[in-house]
Amino acid sequence: MTEENLSFLEEVRRRRTFAIISHPDAGKTTLTEKLLLYGGAIRLAGSVKSRRAQNHAVSDWMEIEKQRGISVTSSVLQFDYNGCCINILDTPGHQDFSEDTYRTLMAADSAVMVIDSAKGIESQTKKLFQVCKMRGIPIFTFINKMDRSGKDPFELIEELEQVLGIRSFPMNWPIGSGRDFKGVYDRQKMQIELFGEGNHGQSKTNTVKGKIDDDKFKDLLGENLHRQLTDDIELLDVAGDNFVLEEVLDGNLTPVFFGSALTNFGVEPFLEDFLNLTTPPTPRESNFGEINPETDNFTGFIFKIQANMNPTHRDRIAFLRICSGIFKKGMTVNHVQENKKVRLSQPQQFLAQDRVVVETAYPGDIIGIHDPGIFRIGDSLCEDNSKTKYQGIPLFAPEHFSKVYTKNALKRKQFIKGINQLSEEGTIQVYKRPNIGVEELIVGVVGALQFEVLEYRLKNEYGVDILMEQMPFRHIRWIEMDNFDPSNFNITMDTMIVEDQDSKPVLLFANEWSIERVKERNKNVELNEISFRK
Ligand code: G4P
Repeated sequence: MTEENLSFLEEVRRRRTFAIISHPDAGKTTLTEKLLLYGGAIRLAGSVKSRRAQNHAVSDWMEIEKQRGISVTSSVLQFDYNGCCINILDTPGHQDFSEDTYRTLMAADSAVMVIDSAKGIESQTKKLFQVCKMRGIPIFTFINKMDRSGKDPFELIEELEQVLGIRSFPMNWPIGSGRDFKGVYDRQKMQIELFGEGNHGQSKTNTVKGKIDDDKFKDLLGENLHRQLTDDIELLDVAGDNFVLEEVLDGNLTPVFFGSALTNFGVEPFLEDFLNLTTPPTPRESNFGEINPETDNFTGFIFKIQANMNPTHRDRIAFLRICSGIFKKGMTVNHVQENKKVRLSQPQQFLAQDRVVVETAYPGDIIGIHDPGIFRIGDSLCEDNSKTKYQGIPLFAPEHFSKVYTKNALKRKQFIKGINQLSEEGTIQVYKRPNIGVEELIVGVVGALQFEVLEYRLKNEYGVDILMEQMPFRHIRWIEMDNFDPSNFNITMDTMIVEDQDSKPVLLFANEWSIERVKERNKNVELNEISFRK
């Protein structure tokens, strides 16, 4: 094996690529910042600009927009910790962007779920968890804000099972809570870790470690807390689930950690165990079966496209997850879907707070490539001529539909350009009625907030004011059929036949009842709730 090969394998094996999910305000931003702090990527906490605006719903869209320049650099972050190269993917907290979350999770190898210890499992945690479940990736739980009085840890563990339906294994157990949160007990090392005073979480916390039966801990904790800890551990050992790594990797068992991102308590024990347990990049499914990340042929797929990140440049970036081989700046690769060669110049990587031009990147890494309008979400790239295509990224069923027009007919060209770009980014889906001129465009979105994004971005990025006319539809089904003939299709009065951007036939329904009637009347036709692009 040549030296280059060896270092390539080492590089792959030290990669850890994961997404952090949480209900807004549970502490995702704070935890991310603390991971950067422990990774040495920032020196003092508080230096990463807050992305909190992302979490606040409709009225704050303007704010979100202002923050977008910041959020892109933090939407993928890379840093080193203990020999591992970590790639963190950010996911939007708002439910209206759950499609975006799904796409981001396609690029991740595992997920960290942050839970507020006082609130337990919140609505958005539930939805995001379901998305992780669909992906079948390992999920790690960080129960945050232990420095505040919260729910009983046993109750939180039970909630994971009751509300999310996932078994859990506490990797550590909190010692005290609220003002008395003193440390954690590591169940595998059978060791107590007490946290020092710290400086309000600005820098790393000092710790005192030792065995539970060491007399010094009885003094440090006090008789009562020490006894309670011993009892809790005994109960967990007897009544809790067993730790089985395969179950974790299959997404059936979640390792749980307790801590406080704000004060840094428990951040380091979490990071160390998590990096040991989660996997380096794993083989991914393609049209040729599983592709091993350690193979030479460079391959990857695009999971996110973001245009106009920087208003002065009007650039468009496609986010590429590298799946195998080595990426080298300036390399020419095959764009499998379009059957064309493209040169990847100016690739960018996102290091802590900076965007830098990347020279070399490895499986597990995410790079941003300049997109002159040729990429679509789900596209595959590969170095050789094998035409390796990764499993596509599905289109989810929109639940809100509107007809969209430009107010000013003279702006029609910009209007169409904007609509097409936002559709390629996955912000909206666009449909047309067959045999009706291009004057009428129907837009579908999964979350209503996306209509605001559409209106705002068309105005700000394309100078187009629009009118939207809400339509009564709530459901969509794709018709999987070659040579579909609408005239032979029997639908209800309140159903509409349209075509999506790939000219696939689609049905829009006002209610579930109509779906059932149409199914009954057209028994030989398959109706699908999600669709894969070509
Ligand atoms: P998010 O990204 O998941 O939305 O949450 P974020 O980190 O922005 O945290 C939301 C709020 O919770 C922030 O308070 C943050 O300081 C606080 N927080 C995060 N982790 C902890 C923790 O471990 N303990 C405690 N007590 N609080 C925590 P804020 O008041 O909105 O902002 P700020 O004024 O503190 O900056």
